[in-house]
Amino acid sequence: MRLADKVAIITGSAGGMGRLAAELFASEGASVVVTDIAEKEGEETARTIRDSGGKSIFIEANVAIEDEVERMVEATIDAYGRVDILYNNAGIMPAEDASVTDLSEATWDRVMDINLKSAFLCSKYTLPHMVKQGKGSIINVASFVAFMGCTVAQDAYTASKGGMLSLTKSFAVQYGRHGIRCNAICPGPIETPLLRVLWTSEEARDLRLDRIPLGRFGEAKDIVYMALYLASDESSWTTGAWLMVDGGISSNYF
Ligand SMILES: NC(=O)c1ccc[n+]([C@@H]2O[C@H](COP(=O)([O-])OP(=O)(O)OC[C@H]3O[C@@H](n4cnc5c(N)ncnc54)[C@H](O)[C@@H]3O)[C@@H](O)[C@H]2O)c1
Repeated sequence: MRLADKVAIITGSAGGMGRLAAELFASEGASVVVTDIAEKEGEETARTIRDSGGKSIFIEANVAIEDEVERMVEATIDAYGRVDILYNNAGIMPAEDASVTDLSEATWDRVMDINLKSAFLCSKYTLPHMVKQGKGSIINVASFVAFMGCTVAQDAYTASKGGMLSLTKSFAVQYGRHGIRCNAICPGPIETPLLRVLWTSEEARDLRLDRIPLGRFGEAKDIVYMALYLASDESSWTTGAWLMVDGGISSNYF
């Protein structure tokens, strides 16, 4: 088993890619803390893992609120005694995110809080435990959009994911000597509900599909298998990396 005896916190794991990651990590031997604001779906994710013989608990927490994150990490330590993997996956892409002059301050703040401040808060409370253990892996979910401009702009989302890349480098450099690695995954367009909000028509969908050299949208498992590698000791000499998992879209000029 690739994650035997490890304890993983996966934020935003009640649904989408986080849920698949929770199930996969548990099947590879990790004890998984499912954490999310969606209580019913989060409980269900943890229960499904337990029902298939894995170890998992659900802890409700909003990753943008410091007290809730602190409580979530404490509850993880109470339940499992350590934390080896922090997978900063929770994120939003609201329809009202837009180009700078059409973007409200409220939307900017909300996106920054959930997509970027969350990684600061979760790392703030997890890192001291990893330092004590002398080992840990932090996985930050960024996006290919952090590298590219887009005429259909979502400026808050793009900036939040750029911030994830910078934090990744900074944590990797500061904590490498403590045996703690920090890497970012940059997914391309993955067929999830988060992406489908952009497909207002078949034309809008095809416009995006045409840009992908591998000829298909990504699937959740394309990202989650990269996360599994980063969570495991197989990646023990990889830190500060920005890993594009994007079907080649960011390599495509035209
Ligand atoms: N889907 C894509 O095409 C794509 C592309 C690039 C990057 N990403 C990133 O991948 C990550 C996962 O995306 P997804 O498509 O699985 O999204 P999703 O919307 O399916 O799942 C996100 C989860 O985060 C939870 N969440 C939202 N706000 C929260 C909060 N304040 N506190 C705790 N949990 C919260 C939601 O309840 C949900 O369970 C996100 O960071 C997203 O930005 C997605």
